[in-house]
Amino acid sequence: MTWVKPPSNKLLSEKHEIEPGLAVLRLEEPRDAQQIRDLLEASFPGFGEAILVDRLRSDGDLDLSLVAEDQGVVIGYVAFSRLMVEGGEKPFHAVALAPLAVYPEYQQQGVATQLIREGHACLAAMGITLSVVLGEPSYYGRFGYSNRRAAQFESPYQSPFLMALSFGAAPWDGRLAYPAAFNLLSEDAATQAHD
Ligand SMILES: CC(C)(COP(=O)(O)OP(=O)(O)OC[C@H]1O[C@@H](n2cnc3c(N)ncnc32)[C@H](O)[C@@H]1OP(=O)(O)O)[C@@H](O)C(=O)NCCC(=O)NCCS
Repeated sequence: MTWVKPPSNKLLSEKHEIEPGLAVLRLEEPRDAQQIRDLLEASFPGFGEAILVDRLRSDGDLDLSLVAEDQGVVIGYVAFSRLMVEGGEKPFHAVALAPLAVYPEYQQQGVATQLIREGHACLAAMGITLSVVLGEPSYYGRFGYSNRRAAQFESPYQSPFLMALSFGAAPWDGRLAYPAAFNLLSEDAATQAHD
């Protein structure tokens, strides 16, 4: 497997101010885990996303996660987890963007936009060239994600909502192998559907 370097020291080694007085962006640190859980439980129905991130972290599958912090409180979060594209000569290391969340009182101020943009800059510095997301085309389209870029991948999530963005050479087809933690998310969604 390709060795992926940690984010460049130049990127987010210091807190990065989004907007004076609003929030700063930085890499997730161990002390953030509970606040990230709180944010995800508040942002999504059920505990699926919070459990997903805990499991991705403990499995070592979180390639990059960024927080937006205001006065010591995590108010925004984005995760990029390891996603292998299989079927070529050797598996290709890509990432899946999920989840993304910002507390309502901080929404509509560009926090998620900055999390995603800085995330992409970090990924590029890490040598990762493909990011895949399952979400709203009207939202992720503004960052360059498209269904066209993802349409040929074999995936349990294949649909008009599956989108991809490449920053460099990356496969257009192959089987998307998500980290094991994503199986829990499907089980959680199935449980909720039956409740
Ligand atoms: C989606 C979310 C992270 C956006 O955070 P944010 O910091 O307000 O985002 P930004 O300020 O960068 O961007 C706001 C824009 O996103 C749009 N947007 C927000 N949620 C959207 C959605 N579900 N579908 C389409 N557009 C959406 C807003 O309408 C706004 O558009 P505008 O710029 O044309 O006014 C936030 O609404 C959230 O946490 N929602 C609950 C969790 C969630 O749904 N996460 C995404 C899972 S795919």
